[in-house]
Amino acid sequence: MGISFSDEINEEITTAVSLPEDSSEGSLRPRTIAEYIGQEKAKENLRIFIHAAKIRNEPLDHVLLHGPPGLGKTTLAAVIANEMGVNMRITSGPAIEKPGDLVAMLTNLNEGDILFVDEIHRLNRAYEEILYPAMEDYAIDIILGKGPSANSIHLDLPHFTLIGATTRSGQLTAPLRDRFGVTLRLELYSPEELKRIVKRSAGILGVEIEEAGALEIASRSRGTPRIANRLLRRVRDYAQVCADGVITSAVADKALSSLEVDKLGLDALDRRMLRSIIDYYGGGPVGLDTLAATINEEAVTIEDVYEPYLLQCGFLTRTPRGRCVTRRAYEHLGIEYLGQQQIEMP
Ligand code: ADE
Repeated sequence: MGISFSDEINEEITTAVSLPEDSSEGSLRPRTIAEYIGQEKAKENLRIFIHAAKIRNEPLDHVLLHGPPGLGKTTLAAVIANEMGVNMRITSGPAIEKPGDLVAMLTNLNEGDILFVDEIHRLNRAYEEILYPAMEDYAIDIILGKGPSANSIHLDLPHFTLIGATTRSGQLTAPLRDRFGVTLRLELYSPEELKRIVKRSAGILGVEIEEAGALEIASRSRGTPRIANRLLRRVRDYAQVCADGVITSAVADKALSSLEVDKLGLDALDRRMLRSIIDYYGGGPVGLDTLAATINEEAVTIEDVYEPYLLQCGFLTRTPRGRCVTRRAYEHLGIEYLGQQQIEMP
């Protein structure tokens, strides 16, 4: 069977090795549950499941992680691998182009390994069927040839754990979703949690940061550690070049304002989206696809990247007839509110 791996997707990581997309976050990723800040509910459950699996000397049950991008799904998977003391192999739904890619991944696993499939909702539906017996019985049946001369080979797999990550669990088929024994939803982080993450990251980067400086960055990071760490690096640049190297709240405020990140963490694109709804659609309702075409952005990007935080801020509502900008958003943008069009309750 012509099975080929792409180097990228077949990268094996051990607990000591960095993740492929680590170039920007690097050593900032926590390695243990104790180091991992926030997501208390998910961690509390995981601690128990990991402990129980270890007592029984079994691999952890398959885990589905879902939630908006940047909340640490890959990081959490690596933490689980570390806590279980096993290796993790990483791939993603769209990277699996042929059934052979998936078969090769599965047959190359070692006993107890974790297979991490990012964006699992984008896995080709036809290949999901390979996963069902693999997840349930640790086996796959490969059909060779066609018609009457077809043969099937039964391959036993090592006992492994599949960790699937997705921003849209609703797009997973029910049979796949049902095969995950553990489902954990990651939530946006509070400013307090993000402040702890920023302080921890500043410590690792060796940059001096005041409490108020950390809170300023945290409260402008849209509940997302990936954004917090990115902004921290930019504020550090600013502090080193334009100030004395220490991140105070004034330094963070100046740096973030020049990056067009406002007091609540909205960036130029968020504001452009809200303004488009106001300027072109009288504040809404406007359908997702129309909005996507208006601001020249993919509908899924709007749903997955922009909306979770705008909804949480109460700047946007979803109604059956489309998206509406709220009075609060008008006030935040400094636009006079002339009475809302008929907002329908969902
Ligand atoms: N860096 C990114 N996410 C983190 C988290 N949840 N805890 C600690 N450091 C992090």
